[in-house]
Amino acid sequence: MKEKIIELSKQIRQFDPQNKQQLEEFKIKFLSKKGMIPSLFQEFKQVPPEERKTIGILLNELKQLAHEHLEASALKFEEIVSQTVQIDTSLPAASITGGRHPISIVSRDINTIFERLGFVIAEGPEIEDDFHNFTALNFPEEHPARDMQDTFFIAKSPDIALRTHTSSVQVRVMEQSQPPIRIIAPGRVFRNEAISARAHCIFHQVEGLYIDKDVSFADLKQTLFYFAREFFGTNTKIRFRPSYFPFTETSAEMDVSCNICGGKGCTVCKYSGWVEILGCGMVDPNVLEACNINPEIYSGYAFGMGIERIAMMKYQINDLRLFFENDMRFLSQFSSLV
Ligand code: PHE
Repeated sequence: MKEKIIELSKQIRQFDPQNKQQLEEFKIKFLSKKGMIPSLFQEFKQVPPEERKTIGILLNELKQLAHEHLEASALKFEEIVSQTVQIDTSLPAASITGGRHPISIVSRDINTIFERLGFVIAEGPEIEDDFHNFTALNFPEEHPARDMQDTFFIAKSPDIALRTHTSSVQVRVMEQSQPPIRIIAPGRVFRNEAISARAHCIFHQVEGLYIDKDVSFADLKQTLFYFAREFFGTNTKIRFRPSYFPFTETSAEMDVSCNICGGKGCTVCKYSGWVEILGCGMVDPNVLEACNINPEIYSGYAFGMGIERIAMMKYQINDLRLFFENDMRFLSQFSSLV
């Protein structure tokens, strides 16, 4: 009997289950009603009285050992299971579905072109105060220029609004740094406009700003020419038309030759051969001053373009509302995962 107990305790100690089934087998073999330990208790009845005490102690120790070992193994096994779930490198990768939104694709493409020229990405808040959205940008108080951009006001005095353009980021960057400044600021903007195929109350812009000594309109033209050729193709032509923005002087709007019809005339360019893509100009000295940059020393240019408009041209989309409706039939046509 003693030998049997010693042999079994050896077996128990050596037991190292690899899965739940082996754990179950162990339980059945040693501890179930007809298992080895309960049968030893049966045999115990035949043990002569003088040996009972020692054998009894050994038998109880064996039973305890089996229980403890079972519990420890189960615990260890649980740990292995949970670890396996976390780091099982053999599991197949979760399949990646979906793609980027066309606005994200176009925004990223625009950003990378300007990043190659040394522009860095800047960001600003979508909820803006009057100073950053208007006043610092040379929109005079009560001047009709403020009506150019129908504004969603959130609070009055002080005026807090959803930014109507990304030009507010210009102000924030100039306030915080001295030239040379070369930033590109993509982001959402909001205007209180009736929603139609060509206008929406929410859209995206990319703002560009370059401030340094001796920056001229020629620098602006060359930078935008480079951008147009990189984005729309090497045969793209550009033209500038005089325009007005309170924060730039001289101001212009830039057209690119229609890359759908190659300038011959189509519905996208309304048979003109040209598509307007951005507003730009030399930063007004008043703006530099409002941002604590000395206009006697520094000059600069700025430009701002609507991302939806460029995406519409790139993908020949004729209704701006499609960008905001999240219709899978529309979105699934854009499969870029990078
Ligand atoms: N902020 C102008 C707009 O929203 C675009 C612009 C930016 C024009 C920078 C000139 C310079 O229409």
